[in-house]
Amino acid sequence: MAHSIARATLGLTQPSNIDPPKISFAAKDVDLVEWKGDILAVGVTEKDLVRDDNSKFKNSLLKKLDSKLQGLLSDASAEEEFTGKSGQSTVLRLPGLGAKRVALIGLGSGASATSTYRSLGEAVAAAAKPSRASNVAIALASPEGIPAELKLTRTVLGTFDDIRFKSESKQPALKSVDIIGFGTGPEIEKKLKYAGDVCSGIILGKQLVNAPANVLTPGVLAGEAVKIASEHSDVLSAKILDVEQCIELKMGSYLGVAAASTNPPHFIHLCYKPPSGEVKNKLALVGKGLTFDSGGYNIKTGPGCSIELMKVDMGGAAAVLGAAKALGQIKPAGVEVHFIVAACENMISGTGMRPGDIITASNGKTIEVNNTDAEGRLTLADALVYACNQGVEKVVDLATLTGACVVALGPSIAGVFTPSDDLAKEVVGASEAGGEKLWRMPLEESYWESMKSCVADMVNTGGRQGGSITAALFLKQFVNEKVQWMHIDMAGPVYSDKKKGATGFGISTLVEWVLKNSS
Ligand code: BES
Ligand code: MN
Ligand code: ZN
Repeated sequence: MAHSIARATLGLTQPSNIDPPKISFAAKDVDLVEWKGDILAVGVTEKDLVRDDNSKFKNSLLKKLDSKLQGLLSDASAEEEFTGKSGQSTVLRLPGLGAKRVALIGLGSGASATSTYRSLGEAVAAAAKPSRASNVAIALASPEGIPAELKLTRTVLGTFDDIRFKSESKQPALKSVDIIGFGTGPEIEKKLKYAGDVCSGIILGKQLVNAPANVLTPGVLAGEAVKIASEHSDVLSAKILDVEQCIELKMGSYLGVAAASTNPPHFIHLCYKPPSGEVKNKLALVGKGLTFDSGGYNIKTGPGCSIELMKVDMGGAAAVLGAAKALGQIKPAGVEVHFIVAACENMISGTGMRPGDIITASNGKTIEVNNTDAEGRLTLADALVYACNQGVEKVVDLATLTGACVVALGPSIAGVFTPSDDLAKEVVGASEAGGEKLWRMPLEESYWESMKSCVADMVNTGGRQGGSITAALFLKQFVNEKVQWMHIDMAGPVYSDKKKGATGFGISTLVEWVLKNSS
């Protein structure tokens, strides 16, 4: 760690120290027309805007607002051609309400998709910006549909903007958001707390992925992990292994990948233990933590290789650490969780691994490295061996592992691979509750044929065909057969090309899954 801190950050870039906005959310049970504040934002679907024969709103909430405004809302929304389409929003200055402005925010047709609510949050933040509004209320014309906590997390996330690397980073003015119409009392307060905890984990995950590789080195990533543990030291502890300790554990596969880099590897192990009571389930979450993937000697060249995007190659680690942060606040009972990341960089230098080298993993298996760009699986090999040695019953690994998985499932769906139908059911169920998309893929054993080596136990890459499957079969070589294991390939959903930023993928699913295993 001293090494990476002693050298000034390459390019002298330092993220600005502004904390992500601490927006306070509160469930309020006030009458919409009475609510006092800067902006009253009402989420409306296309259906909510249906009018009766007298061209008055049929929706009761809109009807009430409109009658208080003597029909001005109806007139104004018609003039603005506001139809409730997703992405449409209109801010109106109308007299007669407690709020200074009313924003109508389109939620599209069904309003069942979780992305709808992220857009709602984005629209609220956008509406608040020009007038520098600091307090906003959100109400939904039709509050039924997907669970409240999911709507809330997505809305909170929509208000978040990562501005740490802009030279003029103005703190957003938005301070408080009142949630109206979801009821009040302990139940909704609990949901709001949960939404806030998960959001803080997702925001951290996004910041880690968005940070460039010259700022977020393996040492800095380890520092972030230590910080998470120290912020929740009642339930989390941290252990960071340096190169010498990894040599001791015979992690030749991981160290082979790290060998070319001037920034030394850091093996991260956080452990969550409940504040009290006995532990019934022991789990491990393993994340791929390549802070940069140049490809090594099999360097990423040519259009479409996206070498400039390879700071995202620690998206699995970000998911695992984001989940640790959220769980450190939620503090579930009856479950122990190990968070494991073999962090390093895949670079090029005279000390680096060559194509054709044979390396030895910590379970004694030998690997002929026929492609240095298939490095993630090499780091995960030793991380999985380590995870299985923690006495856990279930291990889930998350990795931006293969372009092949992106080709197969596109940018928003992650592939899952597991021999266990039970674990598949558990985690896919958790992803549905978390609002993320997973699709189970086959672990076709006959494809192992292409991974055989003449000189070592295996090679690290098969052919182009079924590339995400052979990668998963490779990982399976390093998992203890007594442990239930799942691999999630999240190379597609880690990053949004459209939004040009990290998505925080995996965190809400992992938190849901751990809670399912708690008591
Ligand atoms: N980090 C990449 C995979 C990746 C691709 C992540 C796109 C995010 C977006 C991984 O290490 C890699 O290079 N995989 C190779 C494997 C191949 C050499 C067998 C790939 O997918 O091309
Ligand atoms: Mn690679
Ligand atoms: Zn990689």
